[in-house]
Amino acid sequence: EKTLWSGGRLDAVLDQNMTRLNRSLDTDQRMAHEDIRGSIAWAGAILDAGILSEEEYRQICSGLEQISLEISEKRFQFLPSDEDIHSAVERRLTEIIGAVGGKLHTGRSRNDQVVTDFRLWLRNTMDNLIKEITELQSAFFYRAKNDIDIIISGYTHFQQAQPILLSHWWLSHLWALERDKQRLREFRDRTNVLPLGSGALAGTTFPIDRFKLAADLNFSQPAPNSIDAVSDRDFVCDFLYWASMLGIHLSRCAEALILYTTMEYGYITLSDQFSTGSSLMPQKKNPDSLELIRGKSGSQTGRLTAMLTILKGLPSAYDKDLQDDKELVFQAADTASLTMAVMNGVLRTLKVNREKCQQAINMQALATDIADYLVKKGMPFREAHHAVGKAVKLSETIGINLADLPLSEWQKISPLFDQDVFSVFSLESSIHQRSSWGGTSREQVSKQLAYAEKIISDQ
Ligand code: ARG
Repeated sequence: EKTLWSGGRLDAVLDQNMTRLNRSLDTDQRMAHEDIRGSIAWAGAILDAGILSEEEYRQICSGLEQISLEISEKRFQFLPSDEDIHSAVERRLTEIIGAVGGKLHTGRSRNDQVVTDFRLWLRNTMDNLIKEITELQSAFFYRAKNDIDIIISGYTHFQQAQPILLSHWWLSHLWALERDKQRLREFRDRTNVLPLGSGALAGTTFPIDRFKLAADLNFSQPAPNSIDAVSDRDFVCDFLYWASMLGIHLSRCAEALILYTTMEYGYITLSDQFSTGSSLMPQKKNPDSLELIRGKSGSQTGRLTAMLTILKGLPSAYDKDLQDDKELVFQAADTASLTMAVMNGVLRTLKVNREKCQQAINMQALATDIADYLVKKGMPFREAHHAVGKAVKLSETIGINLADLPLSEWQKISPLFDQDVFSVFSLESSIHQRSSWGGTSREQVSKQLAYAEKIISDQ
């Protein structure tokens, strides 16, 4: 195969398998439009530097625009000899405008070119992902608003802990997503730095105004060190970490929902649109949507590990190992989008079985409230904790519900217990009392909803 360098320093043609290993076109053609946009800006920079005449600049730009159209209309013919999107575009440009096309690469290397394209692509993708996070937050918001009257057990260690409003639980996921969104905004700022003009690693001998170039491509600034510029893939790791963390947030939510769909829990019913059947067992309705979301988060984390591992052994500047960065990021971005969309659909279509949620709550989940009752009568919390623990144990030994323990038994444990202890056994009042900022009381959850609504609509 004819390569960008053949006939010069190197004589022998590239081995067939080496060609396959070396070729990144299938992956990086996704950055075709960014490559063209970067090249048009670069043509402007070398025009200003006196390397191109106005006429040559016009020829190059119109050639690049034609290529852009061919790509959009899927008419662009990739050749087996095209190694990557950069060489494919340059090859086609020379076919269209002749030898002058060969001037475009003056002062530029694929090392600064590829990472410029990549940052352009990722910056735009991040903007879309920020919107998609907001859409998913809206789905959690919709659930929280809709399910405001439903009480469910809160769990720690998968053991019943304290009753909560289901809304409060839905909103807990909305706030995790808010952090994912903040992270993406911060990471976008670090992605938004221009490598172009760094050449292969040492900068360029031509008088390129990199500040103007950065402004033309809407970057906040040109990278201040040409070696670092071609070698920095921190933004890739940032993004893959972002995707991993988002995946883990979705996975943790999915895990709980999967449990809640079981016959044993029965708190929620998934829509058939997001469930699958079994090829063998006729009764089955499986929560595959949520399982896939949970599973994909493992692959997302794997991608972060892959990139960190690729970078670990590299010196600074460019090494071909870096070529694998694009596939990881494209897959991570696609997976993040798709899993967010599916989670969105799951949330908007599921049914909550209110009675099941409430009936599942064992009165032991109010043990903390009983301890707080003693505290309000003057007992130190540690003693109260111990006293109520005894009552729980006693009720289990007798085999009755904690709420049915007779007053005489409570009073044997502590004389502070009185008839009013029975009024503590109310899920509503338990929830009502958790009214500090961020708590599960109806009043606080309403405040949270208002806050969340503002965050969602401020986009
Ligand atoms: N296709 C390469 C990549 O994705 C860019 C080309 C840089 N190649 C080189 N031999 N310097 O990283």
